Amino acid sequence: MSHIAKTNLTQAQLDAHWMAYTGNREFKKDPRIISTASGHYYTDADGRQIFDGLSGLWTCGLGHSVPAINEAVANQVKTLDYSPAFQFGHEKSFQLAEKISDFMPAGLNRVFFTGSGSESVDTALKVARAYWRKKGLGTKTKFIGRAKGYHGAGISGFSVGGIPANRILYGQGLESYHLPHTQVPGTEFSKGMADTGKERAEDLLNMIAMHDASNIAAVIVEPMSGSAGVIVPPKGYLQRLREICDQHNILLIFDEVITAFGRMGAQSGSEAFGVTPDVITMAKQVTNGVIPMGAAVFKQEIYDTFMDTGGADYMLEIPHGYTYSAHPIACAAGLASLETIRSQGLIERVNQMSPVWEKYVHSLKGASDAITDIRNYGFAAGITLAAVDGEPAKRPYQIAMSMWDKGYYVRYGGDTIQLAPPFTTEESEMSSLIDALGESIKKFG
Ligand SMILES: Cc1ncc(COP(=O)(O)O)c(C=O)c1O
Repeated sequence: MSHIAKTNLTQAQLDAHWMAYTGNREFKKDPRIISTASGHYYTDADGRQIFDGLSGLWTCGLGHSVPAINEAVANQVKTLDYSPAFQFGHEKSFQLAEKISDFMPAGLNRVFFTGSGSESVDTALKVARAYWRKKGLGTKTKFIGRAKGYHGAGISGFSVGGIPANRILYGQGLESYHLPHTQVPGTEFSKGMADTGKERAEDLLNMIAMHDASNIAAVIVEPMSGSAGVIVPPKGYLQRLREICDQHNILLIFDEVITAFGRMGAQSGSEAFGVTPDVITMAKQVTNGVIPMGAAVFKQEIYDTFMDTGGADYMLEIPHGYTYSAHPIACAAGLASLETIRSQGLIERVNQMSPVWEKYVHSLKGASDAITDIRNYGFAAGITLAAVDGEPAKRPYQIAMSMWDKGYYVRYGGDTIQLAPPFTTEESEMSSLIDALGESIKKFG
């Protein structure tokens, strides 16, 4: 059905790679091979230009092949390619930790580096449990996530995550319960935050009544759900979660793997929505996707608790970390990425251009009866599509393939199409992306 790029790969090579979150059988019949990337565009194996409508996987807000990042990475490889993450350090990790803190809400200033979003979530959840134990409250071990939440592919991430397809194969996970999602009937086609739906936070009180706060370590939510198709929090909802967590001595974790560093037109989702959690997890945009890296950022009191109870000062305060924590090349990429966001005023740009993006995205309303909802915030948008013959994932797949044929990469997931263009996207590019999407939806709508 879709454009088949010429590739020199053999069938054996194609078969050897078990691809992540991919329909392997379909892909290998009709491989979509990307060869190069620059600015807002990929070039496929046939030399076709393809607009990057999801900034990689929400990673590359600065576009591709950013000179400052390329140079920083090249210099770092030549100077210090690796240094041990445990018991020894290199300067750039400390510089980057300070710079990350500068993007965080006041008080979140202790940065634990990881290699991915999934590891960042694992780190946050482990630290939450250990923190309560340090405080003499070792029964606080359960977690509360949210329906439709995505927190990565680890055992902890799928446990607190709430996308059924990501859970059903894997059996027992961590003991976790799920708040209802905030896609409330009647709020379809809301622009930005919906006026209603805040009351869904009250379910946290029911969970506390059922499990007791003495058994609950943390609530983890994405301030704006990304992978489920851009589910924007209703007005007042995150504030209410914060209030309830405070009243019941439960840590609040915001998973900002997608929302941190500009996507929301703010430094973080926390800043965009005006709520400060106790922990923020991040990855992706921190290095502009160039080198894998993540982090969990903690409020200082959590860090201090570990330092104060750490025993002799040569002892580990927490036995946790990864071989690639604070990898020097990732740190160099991270410093260059965050400096570029600041020096080019990209957060301000996303903020200023968001109304333009919103106008284009919502212009799709009514283009097809198949479109049942459109949501947006910052430079992100999700479009929900009615199911075809009981196959909810089919129409988004068909539309995304049709977009690929036309020269646009968009993400399809569940019953949604997801869009997240680079922070420097021009209005003309938004317009052509949305025009092409409208045509593709009509074709399959
Ligand atoms: C909110 C959120 N958390 C965690 C993750 C997992 O990140 P990674 O794929 O880097 O492990 C993702 C990935 O999309 C995400 O969106």
